[in-house]
Amino acid sequence: MPAYVIIGGQWGDEGKGKVVDYLAEKTDVIARFAGGNNAGHTVVTGGKEFKFHLIPSGILWDNTICMIGNGVVVDPDALMEEIVGLQSHSVNMDRLAVSERAHVIMPYHIILDQSEEDMRAGGAIGTTGRGIGPAYMDKIGRSGIRMGDLLDGKSLLPKLRFVLEQKNNLLTKLYNIEPFDIDALYEKCLEWGSELKQYIKPVEDMIQEALESGKIVLLEGAQGSMLDIDHGTYPYVTSSSPTVGGASTGLGISPIHIKGVTGVYKAYTTRVGAGPFPTELDDEIGETIREKAWEYGTTTGRPRRCGWFDGVIAKHTVKTNGMTSAILTRLDVLDGFKSIKICVSYLVNGEKVENVPSNVSILEQCEPVYEEFPGWTEPTAGITNSEDLPKEALDYVHRIEEIIGCSIYMISTGPARNETILINPLF
Ligand code: GDP
Ligand code: IMO
Ligand code: MG
Repeated sequence: MPAYVIIGGQWGDEGKGKVVDYLAEKTDVIARFAGGNNAGHTVVTGGKEFKFHLIPSGILWDNTICMIGNGVVVDPDALMEEIVGLQSHSVNMDRLAVSERAHVIMPYHIILDQSEEDMRAGGAIGTTGRGIGPAYMDKIGRSGIRMGDLLDGKSLLPKLRFVLEQKNNLLTKLYNIEPFDIDALYEKCLEWGSELKQYIKPVEDMIQEALESGKIVLLEGAQGSMLDIDHGTYPYVTSSSPTVGGASTGLGISPIHIKGVTGVYKAYTTRVGAGPFPTELDDEIGETIREKAWEYGTTTGRPRRCGWFDGVIAKHTVKTNGMTSAILTRLDVLDGFKSIKICVSYLVNGEKVENVPSNVSILEQCEPVYEEFPGWTEPTAGITNSEDLPKEALDYVHRIEEIIGCSIYMISTGPARNETILINPLF
């Protein structure tokens, strides 16, 4: 009854989609447990590129059952769009289940997300604008609408009436925005219910049964540990728990089922949106990485900020999640660099700092202390055997393992499924 978790080890976009798709061949169930369509997970296979926002990245393998857990917030229109898009590629969607307990991102959440960002002005978080924060606020505030509610019009109406009165007050009085019409929104909810009925299921029971019958269950993290509401760079974070604890609460399974926790790390670092980023390269090198790796957001298309690998951050996320293994992606992006750096500690006012400060204003003052490594001239792109890696690349990988305190089981050398070096099987 083993479950294995894939977690983003940095600020998201580490290549989780590629990794999940790679592992899905030998997996029975793949489940998302946190976030919503703020996520953008890319899978490249058979010359085609797929971008997943809500649907687990293993759906392209016929052998998988794919689940969206209670910890996820679901925009029904975004989900429908994704289902229809995959159906147009002849992907059988009967294997998809969405938890009745997952909260719905309502149209007012999307408007509020954008309005709150505007109000923060210079202090804006740089959210994806998908309504994620406001949807989780309502969940915690006990006024959310859940996927199961869309199937029960009678009990939905009073819930919707109650919440909409609050939201319309907020929209009209604080933000000077047109209110939502209850009848139109109610109709929309019923429409979503009838479109998505076949997918809305008791996912928590289904995943328990899968674990009890010895199925291999892969839990697909979204975002990254540094965007975690508790353990990330608060307030420049998302509103969920992308770290390992979220996998348990976001699917209703006990942590004792979790046999392995694997952190996915890029061979350098990127971040989208605002917030501290000590190793950010605001120079030609950062620009070179961005253009070479096409570091632009999968969801919003925004340019990603780029920098060197931050060992302090990575060590923090290894510990916070209890990572049992790590995967290094995009090693090929560093091909051809003359020298490459890894941040091993910070300096704040001349004092050495080896842990991630909880206060972002201190993290903003952190100056990275680097170890410098010679680059490699032979390309790593597409290599599938670690023995074929240039010595300098292998040294770089080994030094990362030492710094973060976790063994690397897999190296990704390109976006496609087969551009992968498997050092140790994960399960
Ligand atoms: P995710 O959100 O963690 O799934 O990552 P994204 O899909 O947002 O961003 C990762 C990007 O890197 C995607 O465009 C992938 O196709 C690409 N990618 C993944 N692994 C590799 C790799 O090893 N090398 C290269 N060059 N690209 C990769
Ligand atoms: P994947 O799963 C990278 C960032 C946003 C913003 C902050 C809050 O593809 O790795 P939100 O819309 O969640 O309220 O925005 O979090 N963010 C991501 N950055 N990858 C993601 O997902 C992200 N999901 C949210 O850019 O800084
Ligand atoms: Mg992404």
